[in-house]
Amino acid sequence: MRFLSAKRRHPAVKVLMLLFALVVIGGVYSLVSPTEQVSADTGKSQQIAEGKALFAVGCASCHGLNGEGQVSGTIQGPPLIGVGAAAVDFQVATGRMPMAQPGQQAPRKPNVYSDEEIAALAAYVASLGPGPDIPKPEEYSGEGLSEEDIARGGELFRTNCSACHNFAGSGGALPNGKHAPTLVGVENRHLYEAMETGPQQMPAFPDRALSPKEKRQIIAYLNELHEQPNQGGLTLGSLGPVSEGFWAWVAGLGVLIIFTVWITAKGARAK
Ligand code: HEC
Ligand code: HEC
Repeated sequence: MRFLSAKRRHPAVKVLMLLFALVVIGGVYSLVSPTEQVSADTGKSQQIAEGKALFAVGCASCHGLNGEGQVSGTIQGPPLIGVGAAAVDFQVATGRMPMAQPGQQAPRKPNVYSDEEIAALAAYVASLGPGPDIPKPEEYSGEGLSEEDIARGGELFRTNCSACHNFAGSGGALPNGKHAPTLVGVENRHLYEAMETGPQQMPAFPDRALSPKEKRQIIAYLNELHEQPNQGGLTLGSLGPVSEGFWAWVAGLGVLIIFTVWITAKGARAK
């Protein structure tokens, strides 16, 4: 402890460290905490009210004030009654909604809402009519699936998806200037939600078309496909491991900082 108390530190250092720790912890929390758990039943109606308010500002101009849709006039949007929380989570988290310009295919773009706001929007739209819920992590994780499952996922992918997304999942053009995007680097949750809700030109694959297990098999197949090292050249498919490493880094740093603050506090008392 000597090295800690021997040196006089500027009093602002402690405050700064505390602030930094709070920011990091807050950031980690907002990233790690699963949005679908936000709603303890008491918070639910408040969340829906929040979502309704956000919806009125950001979405109602195209989808109608009550999500009833707007199918005539220059600004249009389909009704959202019954599309479910999963569709909202997919559309908003991948930045497709709010759509910037009416007319063309809504592209993936940086998302403008926080996780909490997306959860609120999703809860509001879900309250309009029953629809698919946001999937839980165990529904879209490929963990625990065997090689056989993955091979089956490959078969299912080639049968159901490759016509549009290409057999390597790297995307492809569709008629009328539309395109099916690449699936490299798409989060598992969004893979699941896209299958469940069928965005735009894509058909939906409800559970009777692809069972939850089959969806997981496809996801596991894509994970494996895109983690395989390229045969030379730049590796573009390694987003998974990179982001996982990033997690470990952020969480690890958070713990270190808490520890630092704790030591500082102890050091100060020892003085
Ligand atoms: C500029 C108009 C516009 C705005 C603003 C807009 N949308 Fe949309 N939205 C559309 C159109 C058009 C589609 C249909 C896209 C298609 O299928 O080609 C759509 C589709 C959707 C879908 C998919 C529906 C389905 O059947 O799966 C959801 C969910 C959605 N919007 C949610 C939202 C939310 C939430 C907001 C606000 C954050 C929002 N939208 C803002 C125009 C808009
Ligand atoms: C008829 C063509 C078609 C088929 C078949 C199809 N998709 Fe799609 N898919 C699309 C189009 C078009 C989009 C883009 C929709 C949009 O931008 O909203 C898309 C989007 C996606 C996305 C979102 C990607 C992103 O960047 O956010 C995922 C994930 C996806 N598809 C997975 C699948 C899987 C898995 C299957 C097979 C079970 C499949 N698709 C079958 C046409 C198709």
